[in-house]
This record gives sequence, C-alpha cells and structure tokens, in this order.
Amino acid sequence: MTAKLMETFLKLYGEGGEVRTYFAPGRVNLIGEHTDYNGGHVFPCALTLGTYGLARKREDRTLRFYSVNFEKLGVVETSLDDLVPHKEASWTNYPKGVMWAFEKRGYRLEHGLDILIWGNIPNGSGLSSSASLEVLTGVILKDIFGFDQVSMVDIALIGQDAENNFNGCNCGIMDQFASAMGKKDHAIFLDTNTLNYEYAPVVLEDAKIVITNSKVKHSLVDSAYNDRRNESETALRELQTEVEIQTLGDLTEEEFEMHKNAIKDPIRQKRAKHAVYENQRTIRAVEALKNNDVELFGKLMNASHQSLRDDYEVSCEEIDILVDLAQAMPGVLGSRITGGGFGGCTVSIVKNDTVDRFVEEIGKAYQEKVGHEAEFYVVEIGDGAGRLS
Ligand code: GLA
Repeated sequence: MTAKLMETFLKLYGEGGEVRTYFAPGRVNLIGEHTDYNGGHVFPCALTLGTYGLARKREDRTLRFYSVNFEKLGVVETSLDDLVPHKEASWTNYPKGVMWAFEKRGYRLEHGLDILIWGNIPNGSGLSSSASLEVLTGVILKDIFGFDQVSMVDIALIGQDAENNFNGCNCGIMDQFASAMGKKDHAIFLDTNTLNYEYAPVVLEDAKIVITNSKVKHSLVDSAYNDRRNESETALRELQTEVEIQTLGDLTEEEFEMHKNAIKDPIRQKRAKHAVYENQRTIRAVEALKNNDVELFGKLMNASHQSLRDDYEVSCEEIDILVDLAQAMPGVLGSRITGGGFGGCTVSIVKNDTVDRFVEEIGKAYQEKVGHEAEFYVVEIGDGAGRLS
C-alpha cells in the first residue's frame, strides 16, 4: 500500500529529497462516552484502520497537500504564512490547524512541506478520522523538524487545541489521545481530569469486538455536541453552589443524587446524571475486564447505551435499531453507540461463534428497516501513531 502511495507522491510532487512515511490510527471507545470533557474516565483503543501520510521538506514556505480520498480536490497549495482556516481548504484545515497550534507554542516551522495522505477510516463514521489526521500531522512535524521535546501526549493535546480553536469543534481529549497513545491489544483507561492513564489488556478469549457502521450522520453534529458540552458545564456550575467539586467526574452516584436538585433544569439534570453515572460505570467496567468478567463488562456497555439514549440524548433511530437487534441476539455480550453520536457506529462484544450470524442477520434486518446497508468491522486493536519508514 505505502509503495503505491510513494509512487503517487513522486509523480505528483517530483523526484528527489527524502520522503518519509507515517501512520496514525482511528479509535473506537469501548465505554466512557461524553465523559472526557466532564473530567471523567474513558476507555478507547486504537484501530488498525487509520490515516497514512507521506511528507517531504521543501526549501520555501509553501505547503502542498493532496489526499487520495479527495482526488477531485487536487493539490491544495497554501503557505506557512497563511495558517488560518478557509472553508474551501476543506480537509487541509486539519493539518493546517496543527501547524498553527505548534507555532502558537513557539515551535517554528522553518520550511514548507509536500504532504500526501490516504485514509481507510470510513468518513463521518465517528471512528475519528479527523483526530487521526491531526495526530498524523503532529507526528510528521515532530519528526521532520526534530521537535524531540514534544511528547506523544503533547501531540494529542496539540491536536485537540487545533480541533477546538482552529476548526471549531469543542471536543475532549479522548480521540487524539487514543490515536497518539494506542497500544496493540490494549485499551487505554484514561482519567481525562489528570491525563493519568493505564493500559488494560483486551484479551477476549472467545469473543470479538465488532463495530457496526450505521452509515448515517445527522447534520448539526458539531453544534449538538457543543450544546451538550454547554449544558454539562452549566450543570456543573449549579452543582458547585452546593458541593465542592472541580468536574462532574468528581461525584459518585450517591453524591449526585444528594445534590442534583441544585440543577434547576430537568434536561440539564439528565445530562449531568449521564456524565456522573457513565464515569462510575467506566471505572467498574475496567475493573470487570481485569477480573475477566466480560459478561459484566457487556452489561455495563448496555447500560451505557441506555443512558446515552435517554439521558444524554445523543443516539438516533438508526443506531437504536442496531443496538436493539444486537442486544436481543444470544451470544452478544454488550452493545452500545460509540463516539460523539447522532449516527456513526455501534460497538458490540460478540461471541466468536455468533459473529457470522451477527453480521448476516443484523445486516439483513437493518437493511429492511432503514433502507440501506450497514457495514461491519471485526476489530483489531493496533498501536498508536508513528513513523513507518
Ligand atoms: C467525540 C469527541 C470526543 C468525545 C466523544 C464522546 O468523539 O471528539 O472528545 O467527547 O465524542 O465521548
């Protein structure tokens, strides 16, 4: 694959110089949804799907970008002196945002770059294609400009900064962290309040992780996401009038029940309830996995979905259809929406001997009910971003 990309790179940009190859993965979150901007825990893992990038230093300050996924857009040319978002710059606003965030931190980018990318994360699926592109850019800049003091955690934070302040989505740290810090066959138990993390082996002896792509993405995803974030922040401020906490992640379920009436609006109360309960569920789920209790892990995934559907209200009809079908099937240990919501993917734990049936029967039923196909991926957990050659 990368040989083919190299051929395209040289054809497009010309021979000569040293062309380096990089990869940054997408992610799937197993549990801990909409907790990362609420000071709670998340439990994502890096996928083997992701974004590949080839890059070469230039002598001038020109930036040239080309994506094999967006051939029609052709080569997008800009300059290091124009690191501002432009609508027509399309996907290149992501790498540009990361360059902007490096410069903002005082890392001078002395030369322009020729960059070619190709990704195999289905677009708009909620498996973090944009975070992988941000982390990929971070890894390219660190390597090519020799920014040795920039750690992989810094790259995740820089990617988030670019997403928040250059591209206008107020996301948390989970996606960039998973892409930068992933580890083969492990999920990352991350405390988003402190950024302390621990790798937990995901060795499911007789089951697989299956992602189902609903292939729907409802509009207003970013604005609905930002709304949820605002509601949670307002709820936190209301709670802080009664109890000394820094984030919703500081509360146990009991403490929340004791103080919840400080939140005046019933909808905001539901949002905060989700953030508190989901965080505690995530802590319990990781404990269950450590004890090899995959059944309990699955039950907590189901409870997570219910809370995201009813209290946080980030699911949608198509996703609920997939989850209901999955949860009703014997041999499925747990199933829930994953990622930001309003479409995208579900993640399920499926017994090995049920995987074929899962794909076939749920695929058929979904097609009948919704009118288009779903896609299924049996997940392999891969490593975080880095240079390939
Ligand atoms: C999106 C955001 C993440 C996180 C999830 C929900 O993927 O980018 O930061 O908030 O939604 O858990």
